[in-house]
Amino acid sequence: MLVKIEKLNHQGLGITKINGKVTFVENALPGEIIDIKIIREKKKYNIAKNINIIEKSPNRIEPICKYYNKCGGCDFLHIKYEEELRFKKEKLKNILDKYANINYDIEIVPSDKIYNYRNKITLHETNGVVGLLKKQSNEIVEIEHCKLVEENINIKLKREKKPGIIRTNGNEIIMKEKEYLNIQIDKYIFRININSFFQINPYTYYKMFNYIKNNISKNQTLLDLYCGVGVFSIILSDKYDKIYGIEINKDSYKNAIFNIKNNNINNVKFFLGSVENNLKKIMERIDTIIIDPPRSGLSKSSLKQILDIRPREIIYISCDPLTLARDLKIIKDNYEIKDLKAFDMFPRTNHVECVCLLKLR
Ligand SMILES: C[S@@+](CC[C@H](N)C(=O)[O-])C[C@H]1O[C@@H](n2cnc3c(N)ncnc32)[C@H](O)[C@@H]1O
Repeated sequence: MLVKIEKLNHQGLGITKINGKVTFVENALPGEIIDIKIIREKKKYNIAKNINIIEKSPNRIEPICKYYNKCGGCDFLHIKYEEELRFKKEKLKNILDKYANINYDIEIVPSDKIYNYRNKITLHETNGVVGLLKKQSNEIVEIEHCKLVEENINIKLKREKKPGIIRTNGNEIIMKEKEYLNIQIDKYIFRININSFFQINPYTYYKMFNYIKNNISKNQTLLDLYCGVGVFSIILSDKYDKIYGIEINKDSYKNAIFNIKNNNINNVKFFLGSVENNLKKIMERIDTIIIDPPRSGLSKSSLKQILDIRPREIIYISCDPLTLARDLKIIKDNYEIKDLKAFDMFPRTNHVECVCLLKLR
């Protein structure tokens, strides 16, 4: 069946309508005429396979990976990078407008590398097959290499294919629980292991950290919520008299404690546990709160407690625009948006990182 693709949805799938019913088409670009086959019929929408492209978009390129459309890692290998960035900008604008009534023309900072940028891969195994997961499925696609990860991870993958995490700092590799890597940001060294959170794209995270450092005001007390191995607490330690971090993951917390000692930082204290349960332990007046939650965003309890603290400044870092919009809708009653910037932390995928600077009204 021949269809014309109207636009892309938030996951990067082509959208067309068949007798008024929305149909999502994989590997499709706006304006293209495609011969499709419907592979799943749901009540409200269909999913279709791209059988043949009759009229190609000028923004289409040849995917560089043989596993593309098989493994679930990439969404945009068939699109020029400028077009991917335009899509991400548009997606953010639409989500913030639709779910938070925020109208903002967001700048997106590109990644200097769009392939071989990831410092981490997670391999899965089923019935002896080791590889990456298919999209929205538990099926494994066996891989020999991945175009998104740094080359030394691919070299390791060729020699030793095992389920689990492989992580690198560009030179060394770790794969086991008790192994550590050092990563330098500014003059500080951060120790991480496979279980602790760390941003996966060094080409973009430097830009994001610098942006936050340059835009945060110098003040007395900072709260670093969802602090991981303590990156924000440590790189901002000379801008605040006192900093408190809260982190739920034991490995990240242990590394954060190690990192303050190792970097001779004396004004930071970390709490192990949830933001929800630990915020009440901090009794001082707080000037600034950094929030960097997982994709689920803020729970009702943490959002309420943060608003009750009434810091002068909030910096919300988000890897999911939908939960960011949900939370900003409430925060913006009392805070005005000073700036909102996107950082392309995940090139060739539909994911995007956002930083929102907010000031108490
Ligand atoms: C997106 S990461 C941010 C880490 C850190 N800010 C960084 O840039 O490296 C989110 C962190 O929140 C932690 N986390 C998840 N839920 C939490 C909760 N309810 N309370 C405290 N920490 C939580 C995770 O373990 C993870 O380290």
